[in-house]
Amino acid sequence: MSGSCPHRVLVVVGTRPEAVKLAPVVRAMEEAAGFEPVVVSTGQHREMLDQMLSALQVRVDVQLDVMRERQDLHGLTSRLSGQLGAVVADGPYDAVVVQGDTTTALCGALAAFYAGLPVAHVEAGLRSGVLTDPFPEELNRRLVSRLARWHFAPTLPAGTNLLREGVPVGDIEVTGNTVVDNLLWVVGRGLGTSAFAPEGARRRTGPRIVVTLHRRENQGAVMAALARAVADVADARDAEVVLPLHRSPAVRDVVLPVLGDHPRVRITEPLDYLDFTATLSRADLVLTDSGGVQEEAPSLDVPVLVLRRTTERPEAVRAGAAALVGTDPDDVRRAALDLIDDPGALRRMRSVDNPFGDGHASARILERLDRDLTAAASQRPEAVAARP
Ligand code: UD1
Ligand code: UDP
Repeated sequence: MSGSCPHRVLVVVGTRPEAVKLAPVVRAMEEAAGFEPVVVSTGQHREMLDQMLSALQVRVDVQLDVMRERQDLHGLTSRLSGQLGAVVADGPYDAVVVQGDTTTALCGALAAFYAGLPVAHVEAGLRSGVLTDPFPEELNRRLVSRLARWHFAPTLPAGTNLLREGVPVGDIEVTGNTVVDNLLWVVGRGLGTSAFAPEGARRRTGPRIVVTLHRRENQGAVMAALARAVADVADARDAEVVLPLHRSPAVRDVVLPVLGDHPRVRITEPLDYLDFTATLSRADLVLTDSGGVQEEAPSLDVPVLVLRRTTERPEAVRAGAAALVGTDPDDVRRAALDLIDDPGALRRMRSVDNPFGDGHASARILERLDRDLTAAASQRPEAVAARP
């Protein structure tokens, strides 16, 4: 890294997936002489974010506290916008990094834009093609793309989406997804403890299945029907299901009444990342509406059924590691049972190469930021005046 004055970069995290995907970027910045990362945690998530930051050993410099129980998007946006605006004004910063498509990411990008700071968007260019699905994330990610100076696309299709929307090719870097950098870091240090029963203590003859559910557009009747489909699959094949429950009351309200006392379903609190990845790596199958889990499962050779109508991560589906099954409970039941009954199909899904990255995404992001921030610094009036 070049330059004697380090690039002071504000890194904004608010929810569990942002912590996962920005932890390797922060780590890389801390190890690089040319960067001074300042991490702001908005607290959009409270316990789940703290759990993740602590598991991934990310130090927080500025702690906000915006979460409210059952927060609505208006209140959340307003608290984030005001408080992040104040953090940005407390600079100086050379750039602001946001990740993905949460309300924290949108408000972080907006605060930077209002302050005239360049925005680096990590995991740029994901598109489902439907503005309301996922809600409100598809809108958030499109808005962040309008605000960003650097678009770090995880895959070529994501980069192509940006080009189609008129983002200049020179502003796009295809880096791989930082989720893989993080997973490799975790695997290198040793995974945690699986939530499945140890081999000797197994009471079930069927497959081990991980389930996660949380998306806003699935909450309510759709999520209840998905939970019933999970129960049916577990009963039909004597499966052992682990379902770490998101802390959102809107999720708990519908999942617990259906699966809370089910003998084949172990509901846990959100698992520590090390324990979650240990659990995932031992699963035969994962049923999920999560974005991050869609990327981690193929990285750990676990077949995925995506419980959503659309996905902005078509790479895993195209590669054959995942199937988009929708949210109709009959479709979910059929897809899961057909797959469980077809060991050849399960094996083929497991053997697909991970399409999401090679573990060097953070290095590519830093290289580009360093180059452009060094060039920008050399154009500042004081640098120009100091030239012989
Ligand atoms: C948010 C993101 C979503 C992301 C998800 C990751 C938005 C609009 N949505 O959705 O893109 O996939 O995080 O999980 O940014 N809660 C707690 N403790 C926690 C976390 C949440 O109690 O640690 C409860 C609170 O009552 C909160 C509710 O969950 O009001 C919902 O949290 P929120 O961040 O608004 O939405 P998510 O569905 O988690
Ligand atoms: N995760 C975790 N513990 C759990 C469930 C999920 O650490 O009990 C991790 C998971 O490995 C992934 C991230 O949380 O990296 C995904 O978060 P979530 O599904 O909440 O959000 P999304 O990725 O859909 O935005």
